[in-house]
Amino acid sequence: MQETELTAVPETALWTLRNRAEEALRSDSVFADAEAVRLYRALSGEDFERFGPPSQVHALRAMVIDEVVADFRAAHPNRPVIALGEGLQTTYWRLGEPAGPWFSLDLPEMVAVQQRLLPASAITRLPCSVLDRSWLDQVPAGPAVITAEGLFMYLPPAEIDRLITDLAVHFPGGTLVYDSIPRLFSAMTMRGKVRLSDSYVAPPMPTSQSPRQARRLAARIPGVVAAQDLIPPRGRGRWASPLLRWAADTPIGHALRPSLTLLRFAD
Ligand SMILES: C[S@@+](CC[C@H](N)C(=O)[O-])C[C@H]1O[C@@H](n2cnc3c(N)ncnc32)[C@H](O)[C@@H]1O
Repeated sequence: MQETELTAVPETALWTLRNRAEEALRSDSVFADAEAVRLYRALSGEDFERFGPPSQVHALRAMVIDEVVADFRAAHPNRPVIALGEGLQTTYWRLGEPAGPWFSLDLPEMVAVQQRLLPASAITRLPCSVLDRSWLDQVPAGPAVITAEGLFMYLPPAEIDRLITDLAVHFPGGTLVYDSIPRLFSAMTMRGKVRLSDSYVAPPMPTSQSPRQARRLAARIPGVVAAQDLIPPRGRGRWASPLLRWAADTPIGHALRPSLTLLRFAD
């Protein structure tokens, strides 16, 4: 019976793992993730019920990011994948243990859990805050695909532009994919109002970004040449609704929905 004793922001990696594993376990889902299911089952000492009813959002997010990584690797098979705030993601196994360098960065307490619970792999683990740029010295410069899945919302707002600028400088010709939450949701977390169950309140998420703000990044941040709003695949139930997809692209939808952004860096 294993557990993690993770707290605060690192603990949220259990929430997203649980949601991907529960989605992969459904017979009516197209999302497959055998390693997430294995890990979820191995963590039988964790009270996953504290994260409330499962949601498919984190599996849909992962499917978009998988596609970005796979496309980049098809074009640049020897260039690195860099997963920032990777937590208990099992992307590496979902993509078939791809050849080529894979770097995974997370806080030291999370890297200790990854090393204890995830299978041996060719992943280079960087136990470091993304805000401490010494990690860049350990990763080759040049084109790379960088993912930040469920990370930017937890960082201080003032850090985001600086981080993207530094990534564009170190990884010319690279691609960054990340997700963002809307301002209203961020404000609710700051007031402790996102309660997933009687025993769990989501931690503060101080950074929000709308699809419109994301699109402006190409004009605002030197080294960013293109910014694209990525739409997740159709999910199940209400996530398959044509009305929801239509609403996602209205001004109200832009203000209220989470978003996924793809940035391309200048060569
Ligand atoms: C919501 S979890 C997402 C985990 C994983 N990416 C996923 O989608 O399942 C947030 C992750 O960000 C990591 N994190 C938070 N602040 C960080 C920082 N300053 N530097 C690196 N990682 C950080 C946490 O440890 C945790 O793994």
